[in-house]
Amino acid sequence: MAQRKKKATTRGKKTERKVTRYTYDEIKEPRTPETGHTPLLPGEDLVVTLPMDNGWSKAVVVGKLPEGDERPVVMDMDPATDPALFWAGKRNRREVPVLPLQRNEIVSESRIAQIIERARKAAEEKSGTTRQAHLFADLEKQLRESDKGKRVEFYTHEEGWKNKLICGDSLHVLESLLHYENLRGKAQMIYIDPPYGIKYDSNFQQRVDSTKNNDEDQADDVLTIKAFRDTWALGVHSWLSYLEERLYLCRDILRDSGSVFVQIGDEHVHRARTLMDEVFGASNFVAQISFRTKIPLRNTLLAGICDYLLWYAKDKPRVQYQKIYTDRGVGAGTQFTRVEHRDGSRRAMTDEERDDPSVLPDGARVYRLIDLNSSGLTPSCVFNVEFEGRTFSPRTGHSWKTNPEGMTRLIDQRRLEAPGESLQYVFFFEDFPYIEVTNLWSDTQGASGKRYAVQTSEKVVERCIHMTTRPGDLVLDITCGSGVSALCSERWGRRWITCDTSRVAINVARKALLSAVFPHFKTWGASLASGFVYEAPEKVTLGAVSNEREAGDLVLVDRPKVDADALRVSGPFEVMSLGRYSVDDWKGYVIREPDTGEAAKLENYIEVLCRLYRKSAAIQGATGLVHAVAENEKEKIAISVGPLSGRVTAKQINDAVQDALASGILEVHVLGWAFEANVGEVKSALEKRGKVKVELIMIRPDTLAEGLKATQPEMLFSPLALPDIEVAAAKNGKEKQVRVTLNGVALFDRKRRTTEYKAADSGYVSAWYLDEDYDGDCFVDCQMFFDFKKTPNIKAALRAEVDPEEFTLKLDSEPFPVRGYKRVAVKVVDVYGNESVVVRDLA
Ligand SMILES: C[S@@+](CC[C@H](N)C(=O)[O-])C[C@H]1O[C@@H](n2cnc3c(N)ncnc32)[C@H](O)[C@@H]1O
Repeated sequence: MAQRKKKATTRGKKTERKVTRYTYDEIKEPRTPETGHTPLLPGEDLVVTLPMDNGWSKAVVVGKLPEGDERPVVMDMDPATDPALFWAGKRNRREVPVLPLQRNEIVSESRIAQIIERARKAAEEKSGTTRQAHLFADLEKQLRESDKGKRVEFYTHEEGWKNKLICGDSLHVLESLLHYENLRGKAQMIYIDPPYGIKYDSNFQQRVDSTKNNDEDQADDVLTIKAFRDTWALGVHSWLSYLEERLYLCRDILRDSGSVFVQIGDEHVHRARTLMDEVFGASNFVAQISFRTKIPLRNTLLAGICDYLLWYAKDKPRVQYQKIYTDRGVGAGTQFTRVEHRDGSRRAMTDEERDDPSVLPDGARVYRLIDLNSSGLTPSCVFNVEFEGRTFSPRTGHSWKTNPEGMTRLIDQRRLEAPGESLQYVFFFEDFPYIEVTNLWSDTQGASGKRYAVQTSEKVVERCIHMTTRPGDLVLDITCGSGVSALCSERWGRRWITCDTSRVAINVARKALLSAVFPHFKTWGASLASGFVYEAPEKVTLGAVSNEREAGDLVLVDRPKVDADALRVSGPFEVMSLGRYSVDDWKGYVIREPDTGEAAKLENYIEVLCRLYRKSAAIQGATGLVHAVAENEKEKIAISVGPLSGRVTAKQINDAVQDALASGILEVHVLGWAFEANVGEVKSALEKRGKVKVELIMIRPDTLAEGLKATQPEMLFSPLALPDIEVAAAKNGKEKQVRVTLNGVALFDRKRRTTEYKAADSGYVSAWYLDEDYDGDCFVDCQMFFDFKKTPNIKAALRAEVDPEEFTLKLDSEPFPVRGYKRVAVKVVDVYGNESVVVRDLA
């Protein structure tokens, strides 16, 4: 023991642990446009028709939609062929707009890697040695610069693979992945953890920093509300349509050897399974796994303690599957209840030993007995055996599991026992201390230290990854939540894509990825695709013992060998959103008049938005860039609407203000889906110059999407809030540098519908990110600041002390030199998941 300790210290002095990450430069993908490059995309809006049946032929009218909804409710099917599930609104075709994805942000740094670098630097300064720390972000920037000329060739130019965290509805995201990102047939595994049913209130989270949903934090996150409430207008019927549409797209995106897992509770498991039979074909059903989630609840008729995974293959005969094993137990509840002492004597365990095997005497070998009669009959293995003064023969109609020579070897090696009338084989625990994982996972439990209200246990997702994918394979999760599948994929060297409608979820996942540390696994070759070097224990079988064969080897695919000299952080990933909303999304959009309850059909984009924003808005007053005027006793405002597929520019704001002033209106509200980075400065300059008041209003991304009918219009807009930052000169040695301080953030109060300034340390900032050299296109995270929910234990791995302050939300950045673009950008995420960006020139 003492020796081992010494070895560790010497090694600690000699080698420094590398900080590594897995990258996938060898895998090429089309280059996705950055935000702001939408006009460069194909002009035509693509609408695809999604076929959703198995070619059934007879039209059957099913279900009933609520009054006023005139969607056709027919589907083609022949009831004589397959039994199938019917629900109201089941359709055999669905039109889905295909929208390109946009890259908003490249996360190429890891908070934890930076903390490690700083801790090391501090330790080195103390010891008098210095070393140039390198930033992953610098490498990323170099890469982007060298590629600059090619940037306009989106989707024709290829670049190295980056994992993807996407904010958007899974239906559109899946379509984009198929049509723009060329991912048809590329995902090896898809994990879906949809809302379990139609009681959705408990299914989403309002704050990034808390899993508790309080009334005062009532979500204004329309995307989430859409996902959990409004789209479920027909209850379970809507839920089935939701799942069906996505499952068909998932099938297209799966590799031929791929698998899909749907996590579900017992309320709808039967419906989901019937639906999956329909989409994937019953012959591609692989397993229904029950996994334990909770401790039994009292006050229920029969306590439910598990949820389910429905596992379907794209094509079962070709499915990729690796067996996985768990550690076997001994004592009570297992068959390993006998012991052999050092002197060779054997006995049954005492009750105390069964309950607590740790009290077994030193050197005791635990074993179980296995019947030596085989299940069939092999004539050469039917013979009498003399053992301990008695003669044994196999049971009538059976033979032994080995031949006479094998039996002799078993006797010689003391592998036989005859406790009763038949011969038994002695199987020691260490012959194979593992047990194959089946479809009953009673060793799982609910997620611990939850970041997200409905978080899945990592163990569950990891098992799916190990069973069906190899290192470098692509894992897709269309219900990201806290990012468990992205995190597990990152840990096990799989590529990943995940999406969620909730900004809270996206930000919870991003923080988790940025604060994670993983072991670095040994690979056979230089790349991940060469595979990990796995633990391969010996399996001593009866056949091996009786035939003097080598013990069989097997590979434990969930136990790769660890490189103790390296510590790994998350690889680079990009944060994306859906680029543009299709015109079809708003055509025919209906709002119910609050007074009369009547539905009014509005078919003009600008009119729709102006009316949604202020129901009193009159298009008649429009001139130039003032698209509508809203007037009542309290206010008279000019409304200007930004383009559907682009950003609101400084020019639009300027022109709208001039047009408003010309009409004598002193308040201008500019509504936009996205804004140029400099709009904050323009607003202040205009307001400083005269009496005019300018409000910049964000339109929530899926405002015009079908299904938002029931949403309160005022929940669709929120003021664009710009962070308050300060840039100051700083000195770092001889070099002149700058440092950014976050002073505060503008926070939207949902109750009062006003924007309030909150100091940066008031508890409303969830995280902030700094791009030290903003190129005007894509935000590259160079520095990142947030509170760690749980401080990672990296002291031992790092072999250096870490200042505990490092794990708290700092408001001052590290100093950094001014570089080529002479411009910094700061992105702040508030506790509700709202993001705001401010850009500052350093020239
Ligand atoms: C049950 S949670 C998933 C939790 C996740 N497995 C975890 O471990 O954290 C379902 C998630 O799906 C998201 N969601 C629901 N409808 C969606 C949609 N149409 N598109 C994308 N995400 C959606 C919700 O916002 C929610 O975060």
